[in-house]
Amino acid sequence: MYLEKFVDPLPIPPVIKPQAKCKGIPFYKVTMKQFKQKLHRDLPPTTVWGYNGIYPGPTFEVQRNCPIFVKWENKLPFEHLLPVDRTVHGAELCQPSVRTVVHLHGGRVRPEDDGHPEAWFTQNFENVGTKFVHKIYYYPNCQRATTLWYHDHALGITRLNVYAGLAGFYLIRDEEEQKLKLPCGKYEIPLVIQDRSFYTNGELFYPTQPGHEPPPAPQPPPPVDPNLPNPSVVPEFFGNTILVNGKVWPYLEVEPRKYRFRILNGSNARFYRMRLSSDLSFVQIGTDGGFLEKPVTVSEITLAPGERADVIIDFSSHAGQNFILTNDAPTPFPDGGIPLTPDLMNVMQFRVKSSVSEPDKSQIPETLSCLERLNPNDDVMIRKMTLVESTDEFGRLKLLLNNMHWDELPITQTYNGTIEIWEMFNTTVDTHPIHLHLVQFQILNRAKFTGDPNSPDLEVGPPQPPDPNEMGWKDTVRANPGEVTRIIARFGPFTGIYPWHCHLLEHEDHEMMRLYEVLPNHN
Ligand code: C2O
Ligand code: CU
Repeated sequence: MYLEKFVDPLPIPPVIKPQAKCKGIPFYKVTMKQFKQKLHRDLPPTTVWGYNGIYPGPTFEVQRNCPIFVKWENKLPFEHLLPVDRTVHGAELCQPSVRTVVHLHGGRVRPEDDGHPEAWFTQNFENVGTKFVHKIYYYPNCQRATTLWYHDHALGITRLNVYAGLAGFYLIRDEEEQKLKLPCGKYEIPLVIQDRSFYTNGELFYPTQPGHEPPPAPQPPPPVDPNLPNPSVVPEFFGNTILVNGKVWPYLEVEPRKYRFRILNGSNARFYRMRLSSDLSFVQIGTDGGFLEKPVTVSEITLAPGERADVIIDFSSHAGQNFILTNDAPTPFPDGGIPLTPDLMNVMQFRVKSSVSEPDKSQIPETLSCLERLNPNDDVMIRKMTLVESTDEFGRLKLLLNNMHWDELPITQTYNGTIEIWEMFNTTVDTHPIHLHLVQFQILNRAKFTGDPNSPDLEVGPPQPPDPNEMGWKDTVRANPGEVTRIIARFGPFTGIYPWHCHLLEHEDHEMMRLYEVLPNHN
């Protein structure tokens, strides 16, 4: 289906206001609903799921160390909008088709407020999962100013719930940030990038089985594969259009001045390797967990699903020009195989006006923040983790962490306050964005390896430092094929059980997710 590019202005999700105060703490209520929304000028309204009736959901803006309560409510229908594979863990026929639970990605929160995949709840809390604790979540916001996001995390259907629209921004601010005098107000804009496909009637297309193509697909459609469940999970979903803040290929009118953009890859499986046309550059100032030490000027930014980049783009000497945010990330990443159509090489357009409405007083400071570097030489525990391929009972590719399934015991255990290095050996052919709940970590290095990570013939090459724009705090890291990616984290400050997983949502739903536990410190 042909959709013209850059005909709709970029929507900016509204900032949500608290409904009340409870013991002096702001209390928010957010309701998940099904509704129709225009996603492109020439598409009929699309049925989507959203928080408080919008997709993407409203943006939270909170201050560091000022906690909030959120009551997340499910008013969704009983039947899922998209094809549910009942053979995937947690989505079996005995489970309700529509289950939701909200995870604050990158948030340092207690386990009962983390959105455990089995803490799901259905409409009006009529059914709840085995790990459900309470209806009202408490977010302490005790962490650096940064760009977080919230999204659904229900076991076995996360890919479908997020694809239907359940995602939004959560910005933490602090005094340190305010002192930097970065572009703010209408000059600070969040951008969530997602790929989608549509039926001609405007409805979301999500494949029912591997190989099913969106319209206009070659006729006749591929037959149902009798050896696979129907519907069946697909290895990875890739859409044929790109949306930013819920619009297909939008444009944004900007003034000739500096802007700050919080870029989030909120796609199920697509990576983006972004540039600006005419070689305009980005100044990256932050990563998943907040500001870098110093700004880094880059011509290209790669984001895997779940990753964020906080950037400044300076349009000041480009009045009257247009720029395109482009993408050339191979699909799957990094080796490709699925053709990248010219359409998919466009993300959005910036149209620079002829003049500013007020002088640009914002700046890009030389120093942004002071980063505590976690020290790998302390006698820290080093864990070897593996990313491996296997197949399930239907012969479908199934990716595993440490060759174990979601509910297999034992789980990894660590102690509160303890620093550990996780060495993630990726034996598969794709890059997997690995996300740990609860903690922000640092990337130490990556190194090529050959041989089986768990055998004596393992050979590991020289370590390569992370990219300069990966030198900050991270909660999601690209683990490239044939490489060991070494991260260092201090576990805590809360104890309990948290997930870690691949953020390619089709992988996460199909067993590429494990739990780890933070135990009370033994000293
Ligand atoms: Cu953004 Cu466990 O996920
Ligand atoms: Cu993966």
